[in-house]
Amino acid sequence: MKANWKTAHQTKKKLRNNLLFEGASQLEYEIRQIARKADQVAKCGVNIIWENIGDPIQKHNRLPEWMKDEVSELVRQDSSYGYCHSKGIPETRRFLADRNNALGGVQITEDDILFFNGLGDAISKLYQYLPSTSRIIGPSPAYSTHSSAEAAHANSAPVTYRLDPENNWYPDLEELYNKIRYNENIAGILIINPDNPTGMIYPPEYLEKIVRIAAEFDLLLIADEIYSAITLNREHTLPLAEIVGNRPAISMKGISKELPWPGARCGWMEFYNRKSDEKFDRFCRALEDAKMVEVCSTTLPQKAIPRIMGNSKYDSYLDARNKSIAKRSKLMDDILSDVSYIHYVETRGAFYNTILFRKDALKPGQHLKTHDTSINYLLKEWITPDLAADKRFTYYLLAVYGICVVPLSSFQSDELGIRVTLLEENMDVFESTFRSLREAIITYCESA
Ligand SMILES: Cc1ncc(COP(=O)(O)O)c(C=O)c1O
Repeated sequence: MKANWKTAHQTKKKLRNNLLFEGASQLEYEIRQIARKADQVAKCGVNIIWENIGDPIQKHNRLPEWMKDEVSELVRQDSSYGYCHSKGIPETRRFLADRNNALGGVQITEDDILFFNGLGDAISKLYQYLPSTSRIIGPSPAYSTHSSAEAAHANSAPVTYRLDPENNWYPDLEELYNKIRYNENIAGILIINPDNPTGMIYPPEYLEKIVRIAAEFDLLLIADEIYSAITLNREHTLPLAEIVGNRPAISMKGISKELPWPGARCGWMEFYNRKSDEKFDRFCRALEDAKMVEVCSTTLPQKAIPRIMGNSKYDSYLDARNKSIAKRSKLMDDILSDVSYIHYVETRGAFYNTILFRKDALKPGQHLKTHDTSINYLLKEWITPDLAADKRFTYYLLAVYGICVVPLSSFQSDELGIRVTLLEENMDVFESTFRSLREAIITYCESA
């Protein structure tokens, strides 16, 4: 018996069943993948400038002392260490519902709010519980956490509408309309407002048209509004709550960017007009049940939300922060505006800019030179003939200048470009990064 088991144990090499669901191949997250390449470059002794991820803390953002004091007080309370209500702390949900209701748009209660472990967690749950045939059409360029999760749930490429760089990155509404009209599987429209990666803010008249399209085709509206408080020139971002009327909709929010406290892993959904549609109500209930199975989301940051957002210093804090992002946006423009190989639209919200290469600026054979043999070895491995032209540039930029940016082709876009952030608080580092970027773009484009 023992000998038989041993033989079986030694000869059996393959698992009986597949372990991976088919949609897993759609889970692509270049923002993190490029970081693996950056680690390889760092091992060769190059100092990496991380421009691949929107983490303000990594870019030297310092939370004000009053905010840390509020969190410190919570750290001293035993209740901060326990589980909380599976939907989230009731007082915090009431606080957020009141804030929403004060806008004068759609009215909600604490029961319409559901907390998650970061908005990324909310995003994966959202698509996970949709049937694979129900598609959500989202913007292109696409923030990959949405587009990858949506594609994975359907095991098919993401369905997108184009944001037009020739028109301030505003959505191509005709394309959106036609794609919805001719694809009956589309069940909802996603907007990200302000947008990642373009920094665009949806104008009110575009939002109104999108709501009208949703009404015409009976679609769910989803707005990722994690950047709603980050607008550079005191521009108002029209919240979905103000224009949604009686349509079923979900707004997605969080504190990773706004406070900013990305390490808190704390985000939430607001369900609008939940009772207006039975299918929508059942979907919201499934999301709540899924959270109940998990017990709950992070407690301490939820407790901090009313203390911080309700603090009298909060609005002026946000104002000052937005002004400093605007200052860096201006500096970026001063450095790059005369580079003929690129063009870009000024950032209006969030803290990204998408820099596009002009047509014909990128050609085969272009390169950046280095005499470092280990870096050249990496480049030899990475630069394959089938690489997208903007990805090729980003690999050279990373290997030779240590600047780690995300290529636009990784954001489900046909445009060629790169996404940069406006986050670096140290103005000397910010300036030298963008000067290096300028030099890299010119040298690369003129090398062949
Ligand atoms: C548009 C958008 N939504 C959601 C997230 C995820 O946020 P969180 O840190 O709360 O998971 C990000 C993070 O960059 C984002 O840009």
